[in-house]
This record gives sequence, C-alpha cells and structure tokens, in this order.
Amino acid sequence: MNILILGSGGREYSIGLAISKEKTQHNLYFMPGNGATTQLGTNINITDYKELSLWAKDNNIELTIVGPEQPLVDGVVDIFKEEGLTIFGPSAAAAQLEGSKVYMKNILKKYNIPTAAFIETENKDEAFNFIDSMTRTPIVVKADGLCAGKGVIIAMSKDEAKEAVAGMLSGESFGDAGNAVIVEEYLDGYELSIFAICDGENYVVLPAAQDHKRIGDGDTGPNTGGMGAYAPTPLVNDDIYSKVEENVIKPTLAGMKNEGAPFEGVLFIGVMVVDGEPIILEYNVRFGDPECEILMPLLENPVSELFYKGATKQLDTFVPKLKDEFGVAVVMASANYPYGSSEPAEIIVDEIHDVELKENSHISYAGVTFEDDKLLATGGRVLLCVGFGESIEVARNRAYALCGQVHFSGKKIRTDIAYQALK
Ligand code: AMP
Ligand code: GLY
Repeated sequence: MNILILGSGGREYSIGLAISKEKTQHNLYFMPGNGATTQLGTNINITDYKELSLWAKDNNIELTIVGPEQPLVDGVVDIFKEEGLTIFGPSAAAAQLEGSKVYMKNILKKYNIPTAAFIETENKDEAFNFIDSMTRTPIVVKADGLCAGKGVIIAMSKDEAKEAVAGMLSGESFGDAGNAVIVEEYLDGYELSIFAICDGENYVVLPAAQDHKRIGDGDTGPNTGGMGAYAPTPLVNDDIYSKVEENVIKPTLAGMKNEGAPFEGVLFIGVMVVDGEPIILEYNVRFGDPECEILMPLLENPVSELFYKGATKQLDTFVPKLKDEFGVAVVMASANYPYGSSEPAEIIVDEIHDVELKENSHISYAGVTFEDDKLLATGGRVLLCVGFGESIEVARNRAYALCGQVHFSGKKIRTDIAYQALK
C-alpha cells in the first residue's frame, strides 16, 4: 500500500517504523515528517489539507494515518473523505472530544460515564460560587480549548483556583482557548493511558500504559508532553479493563453515534484509578506520545492492518495479538525543554556491540533535523530510547543502556521511568 502519515514526532516515526518492519512492503510518505522519517519513506510538505487530499489522490495513497490532534480538530478527515480517500481518524465533529473539554465533559455526563464532578462555565461569578461550595482542595481548573497540554491548573487553594479561572476567562492565560472553563474536583489515584482503536461501531483495546508527564524524577517540576512510558502496566487488572469497556468505551461509542458523530480513530482514555474504580480524566482523539512508541512495536499484527480496518469499519475481524514482553521508552529531551528551544546539537549514536541490546532496543526519532549529513537535535523532545524484555526491569535496563549510547549536547532524561511498576 501507499501510506501517508501526518505528523512529525516520535509517535509518527514509531508508526512508520512498525509499518516498515511488516512482511509486506509498503511505501511510506510523511507530512511533514522529521529529519529521520526520511530513512523510512518520503517527506512531503503540503500544509493545506484540500491540496494534500488532491496530492493523495494523484499519488494513489490507499491509507492516511493522522498522528496529532490539531489536523483532526481542523477537519482533515472530513476533507479526505470528501475526496473518497481512506483515512484513519475522527471527523472534526467527533474530534471535539479533545478539541473542547466542555464538549467532552458534557458527553461524559450525558451518557453516565464516570468522571470528576465539575461545572463548565463562561461566567466568572458562577465559577467562583462553585469553588466556594467545594469542600476539598486541590481544585482543578481547565481551559476549554487546545492548549498543547498546558491548559490544566491544579490549584492548591480556593484563591489560587479563582486566580486561574480569572486568568483563563479574561483571555490572558490561553487566549480564546480559555473562553470557557471547567472547574472540577481533584481525583487522587494513579493514572493510566488506555487506547481503544475504534471504527464507529467496533473497537480493539490495547494494553494499558503509563506516561510520565512531569519533567523531573519523582514526578516533580512542570508538565511536559511526556518524558517516558511503559506497557503493559501491572497496575491494571481484568476488573479495570472490563469496567473501562462496559462503563466507558461502549457508552461512548453508542453516545457518539447518537450525537450524529460516530467515533472512528484512537480513543485515548485518560484514566485515574481511585480505590480500584476507573474515573475518566479526559479523552484525546489520537495516540499518546510517548505511549505510541511502545505500543506499536508490541503489536504482533501488521500495524497497517489495524489502521486500515479501523478506517474501513472492519475491526470486528481484527484480533489483536501482543508480543509476550514489556516495552519501556525513555524520552531524551533538549537542555531547555519544556521552557524554551535549545541550540541545535549534533546527535551521535555509538555502534552497539551487545547483541541482546541491539536486538531488543531501538530509537524512535522526534525533534530532529537532517542537515549537512548530520542529524541534529532541534526540538524539545528529541528522541526516545525504547527497550524491550521479558520483564519491565529488563526492558527498562535496555532502554537506559541505549540512552548511554546516544549523545548530544544538553541531553536530558528522567532516570525513573516505570518506577510505579517497580516500587
Ligand atoms: P488533562 O489535560 O485533562 O489530561 O490534564 C492533564 C493532567 O492533569 C492529567 O494527566 C492529570 O495528571 C492532571 N489532572 C487533570 N484533571 C485532574 C483531576 N480532576 N484530578 C487530578 N489530576 C488531574
Ligand atoms: N502522552 C500524553 C499525550 O500524548 O497527551
């Protein structure tokens, strides 16, 4: 097949890498891709989605996979479908599950899906009254729209919560994305990332992963896009999976159908497990990054088949087969991440002599550029060292061993990825 992947991060690289390892050969195109996706296929640069859909038709693209949320919210799937193309991802209407937290919370409420008690409002006084009525702190304040993962404030006091609300509603904090806010109760538990691949009717659940959102060891410092992940996590059992299927995935798919926006694509379920009960923090409508980088290689089935069947309503005939091993991904970020950009730095990867390590690890490239025959670290999250093994510990040791073989000036990693599973 000719396959087009939209996006430029480690997530998109890992999807391409998994497809390039399939028995059947495929031709891969990335829009825009990064400095390393050129090793897997061809980068193209057409940013207008209508123009891109016409290019896809001209070039016999048989499957398009969308990595990030922005093109989905902007309606790339609708535009491609108008041209009769096969594309995996939600319509703009269904992508509102991520594009608007107010929409998402209202869907959860309407279909009785467990989530934190909340109000949504555009009115400051209403928000302040709700805050005054709350009996516990911390209090969580969220901007409605897309804020690149920064629109959530965990306020330690009522005053701090009010300050956050005022900053959002005035447009000062997040512009239009803060025109409406959610104020909700704080959930105390542990977080899971659960991914359901959906075709509007049917779904396939992948093994639960855990992300590490804070920049520093021990979950300290500011939030990032994610500094590492591992899967499958032992922190989930059959009871949690079955509650997520029955109380979350099924009612969401039925609900979205009822709303006239059937959900096709990756339903990324952000779960907080509180006293053994999975409570929904949020939905995203795409794979998590870095979670994708471990889930793609753990899948034994051809990844292209999963996405193709997802895009053509055939997931009822897809039986997921997972490798009997664990994956751990450690993000290597640049010096100033997540505060700002860093000077481009050349990436050197040592030759790996250890056969075990070589066969059970790889790099997934993200914020890199290829220039003058050199691979340069140019983004915030530069690459991921991914290790596999028969236990989380073995996988983690391999991921960190690989980290030791990768060099660029200012490289920064967390040293405790998967700690919750190894405590
Ligand atoms: P979100 O963008 O909604 O996933 O929020 C980002 C992060 O904030 C989540 O991954 C959680 O770590 C945290 N968070 C969001 N909502 C809550 C909540 N109600 N209680 C506790 N933590 C939360
Ligand atoms: N890893 C979290 C996210 O992709 O939003």
